[in-house]
Amino acid sequence: MVNSSELEALVNDSKPKHVAIIMDGNGRWAEQRGKIRIKGHHEGVKSVRRVVSSALTIGVESLTLFAFSSENWRRPEAEVSMLMKLFMTVLTREVKKLHKNEIRLKIIGDTSAFSPAIQTKIADAEALTRHNTKLTLNIAANYGGQSDIAHAAKQIAIAVKTGEISVDQIDDNMLGQHIAMADQPAVDLMIRTGGDHRISNFLLWQLAYAELYFTDTLWPDFDNVAFEDAIVSFVNRERRFGGTGEQVRAILTQQK
Ligand code: IPE
Ligand code: IPE
Ligand code: MG
Repeated sequence: MVNSSELEALVNDSKPKHVAIIMDGNGRWAEQRGKIRIKGHHEGVKSVRRVVSSALTIGVESLTLFAFSSENWRRPEAEVSMLMKLFMTVLTREVKKLHKNEIRLKIIGDTSAFSPAIQTKIADAEALTRHNTKLTLNIAANYGGQSDIAHAAKQIAIAVKTGEISVDQIDDNMLGQHIAMADQPAVDLMIRTGGDHRISNFLLWQLAYAELYFTDTLWPDFDNVAFEDAIVSFVNRERRFGGTGEQVRAILTQQK
């Protein structure tokens, strides 16, 4: 029988260091309410705020959010341009708050496809927050898992061509060093909201050992409790030490 301080140590030991989320279901959330899809994206921003705040409380080191995939350009032009506008607004409004909370912001994905105004905002936000250490918030924007791996392969090919490395030196470890977020802990929990059970070209390499957690909850309905449920489920899957879900949740959410 473990006592409560042992339980606390066990829970803190087995909580995820890096959580990644496919934030899906904004469009359906809006459609169910007879609203236009963009309303769902706006509502989804509130869920982002809640999850970031929960991640801080729980003490997650990295949080990675899939905001826009490399395939999302195929959506109707009006929706894409609304999403870009929203991205710009959020970047303008939220960065100060992120900085105040000692959060480091990183954008992963091919940002060269975005407007110069968005690219400048991204560069400024990353520069402002780069020394923060409480939490790293990675936003995947124009991101594709296959492109990420192709990009790594290209970097390695260049190194071979310039004679920096030999072909025999190439292995999984080396490739991994060129993949997005190589400087951060491995993703140990991947959550997808919105009811579908697929990866949709999100992190591929990085999910090799991740626990996968799928929920029917639509992204705008995903609140702190839903996020904590996912973390509690991860901790319980990781180690079965006889604590109840409530005990685990209480330990995870006590203010540090
Ligand atoms: C996910 O919600 C958010 C983005 C892709 C930007 P969706 O817009 O895919 O919502 P559904 O899946 O159509 O409900
Ligand atoms: C995945 O959701 C991309 C993001 C959440 C940004 P999608 O709704 O675009 O994925 P599919 O179309 O269901 O695969
Ligand atoms: Mg979707």
